[in-house]
Amino acid sequence: MNEGLRRLFPGTSDQVYLNVSERGLVPEPVREAVTEYLDECVLGTADKDRLRRRVEETRAAMAALIGADPDEVGITKNVSEGLNLFAASLPWEAGDNVVLCPQLEHPNNIYLWYNLKRLRGIEVRSIPPEGGRMPVAGMVEAMDERTRVVTFPSVSFAPGFITDVHTLVEGARRVGALTLVDAAQSIGALQTDVRALGVDALTVATQKSLLALYGFGFLYVRRAVAEQLIPIHVARYGIDLGEAHETAFEEGDLTYQPGARRFDLGNYNYLGATAAQAALALIAEIGMQDIERHVRGLAQSLASGLLELGLPVVGGAPGSDLAHIVSVGESGGGRHYTADDPAMNQLHEHLTEHRVRISIRSGVQRFSIGVYNDQADIDRVLDVARKWRDTTGYAR
Ligand SMILES: Cc1ncc(COP(=O)(O)O)c(C=O)c1O
Repeated sequence: MNEGLRRLFPGTSDQVYLNVSERGLVPEPVREAVTEYLDECVLGTADKDRLRRRVEETRAAMAALIGADPDEVGITKNVSEGLNLFAASLPWEAGDNVVLCPQLEHPNNIYLWYNLKRLRGIEVRSIPPEGGRMPVAGMVEAMDERTRVVTFPSVSFAPGFITDVHTLVEGARRVGALTLVDAAQSIGALQTDVRALGVDALTVATQKSLLALYGFGFLYVRRAVAEQLIPIHVARYGIDLGEAHETAFEEGDLTYQPGARRFDLGNYNYLGATAAQAALALIAEIGMQDIERHVRGLAQSLASGLLELGLPVVGGAPGSDLAHIVSVGESGGGRHYTADDPAMNQLHEHLTEHRVRISIRSGVQRFSIGVYNDQADIDRVLDVARKWRDTTGYAR
């Protein structure tokens, strides 16, 4: 990561920001694009056709990032909207089931299944994690011919390991189930090719490693799957009326837009699209291969350094499923602002006092690395943690 790139992120200048898993730092080009958009709103010069084109360009950029066609990408406002739009459109029958590991899911990929249980009589098959990792074998074993969906995060929000997507997709295919991926934590950090992965649907929002804002996201649905689905919510942008005006209405049978475009509703979050477009352009310029190498390399360095200090890094020595997230503490606690271990809370306070910005999720301290971080950030965290250990006499 070069100095020029780092300067695009003023948020790196007087703190060590290791919190992309909550929200990424927004780069200057995004600020500039958003300011320009707001100026147009203030002056009344915004042009709707241009804004619509911007949404299409953003959709195409997102599709290119994950190896999909633009028609396979719907525009959403967040991860949960993508998950819900997809799940609610499936032809559920009472007694069908969904397989997931709730303890490694964000609540936004849990509630909807219990809602479908209530509404449609589905069964929720919950499989416990294995040492902070996705219980892949247990999930495959839990699938049967009534399994309609298998859902999982590509990287868990805590402790943050990479899921073995390949095995889950194979297992799902064997029983004819669909795979739905919560990719909130991985897109923009790890290279993703939906075709190579073979997943059926995937959803992400733009405020984390996509370096843009809250309130804008994408739902990928493989074309062959999307075209069999009847969206549960519809509005003009999901209906295909050719080149007709956006206010056009035609009587008769509904023709949905091709692929995942049918999940689009009404007007978009044009501010979010503006930010996402600028951020995706920057990400494309740097290149996902380099971004992944950079963030995972720093994660390796951080995990190894924290282990050398005797801190309880979840999962121990870094393995091939280490993403850009390093977690410290006892995995599986339910707390989001404090850890279960008082020493870890003390360490967290110490880090905060020394301007190291991280978060606590599921009882663990979560250090999450963005493209804007560098080795000096990692060295600084290790230095602050070492001083804490030496003054408190912490030993596991
Ligand atoms: C794995 C995961 N899923 C979902 C979310 C959030 O969902 P939403 O975008 O619907 O707020 C987050 C983080 O905020 C997350 O880490």
